[in-house]
Amino acid sequence: MQTALERADVALDLGTATARLHVASRLRPLSRPSRIWRDGRERRALAGGVVVDVEAATTVVADLLGHVRGRWRRPHVLACLPTDATAAEREALIEALLRAGAGAVQLAPEPLAAALGAGLDFGTARSRAVVDIGEGVTDCAIVSASGVVASAALRVGLDDLREAIREWIAQTLEVHITPGEAERTLRDVGVLARREQGRDLVVAGRPRRGVGPVLIRVDRTAIRNALEPLADRIAEHVRRFVAAVPPEQQDALRESGLALTGGGALLYGMPERLVGELGLTVERVGDPLGAVIEGAHRLRRSRGR
Ligand SMILES: Nc1ncnc2c1ncn2[C@@H]1O[C@H](COP(=O)(O)OP(=O)(O)OP(=O)(O)O)[C@@H](O)[C@H]1O
Ligand SMILES: [Mg+2]
Repeated sequence: MQTALERADVALDLGTATARLHVASRLRPLSRPSRIWRDGRERRALAGGVVVDVEAATTVVADLLGHVRGRWRRPHVLACLPTDATAAEREALIEALLRAGAGAVQLAPEPLAAALGAGLDFGTARSRAVVDIGEGVTDCAIVSASGVVASAALRVGLDDLREAIREWIAQTLEVHITPGEAERTLRDVGVLARREQGRDLVVAGRPRRGVGPVLIRVDRTAIRNALEPLADRIAEHVRRFVAAVPPEQQDALRESGLALTGGGALLYGMPERLVGELGLTVERVGDPLGAVIEGAHRLRRSRGR
């Protein structure tokens, strides 16, 4: 399905939380959530950064491609995926894109796109390390002029952190909270202790027993402790990746540090935690959420005729 010589018409970042389509004539990418409602039920097209529901993914992508149908009947799409995607997962992505109306599909690794989109300077003489912490996957890579030269992905992301909060509140306080409330809590608490801002954190939910809704006061330290195992897994994954970087790349790594992209880069304390774990400088890029789609667009322009 790869048509190496022909330049793709549009670039797509089909992420676990958000699907983004870059169309050259527009200033901003088009975007929408990577989920659909069917028969009164929410279906997620992706988990862990890969397509798990081809039908849902087809609907999500068809919706985005609908905006460019007037220009291309069957656009050629450059799409990104995690570096650890299996052959079956690639096939699922390709199938969804073709069913959604793509005429041809080219694939690119997400961290390479993230590095390009973030404007990192890498090339023949210089490599850079990038870590993309998204909704479903934490993808680490060393990129150079020849592309991804080393990578390691862990299928843990912000979705798991939010679920840990919901589970802890359900078990300890016997209250069910929405993903939206879990999101608000996650952003408030972050993954590193900080001097609290005084005000209590109050979350709305539905009690397991009795009638709701209720407002509950939650202890930030307890929430942070509940997040700790996952935050640790992410930091440990990055640490191992860095430790396994080939010796010839180690100097470059020490010199230029790590660039952090994805929604996880915006989470309070994430860069600091990684610095603590790695002893390297960690730089949150300018637009962590937009790096992959911007880079996919640049890749699209640079590839093919
Ligand atoms: N300012 C912020 N602080 C904390 N989290 C944020 C912030 N802005 C967005 N997020 C969260 O980042 C997550 C989405 O990140 P991102 O867009 O990188 O994921 P994705 O690309 O859809 O997923 P993946 O790449 O893992 O498949 C969402 O959970 C979103 O709520
Ligand atoms: Mg992403």
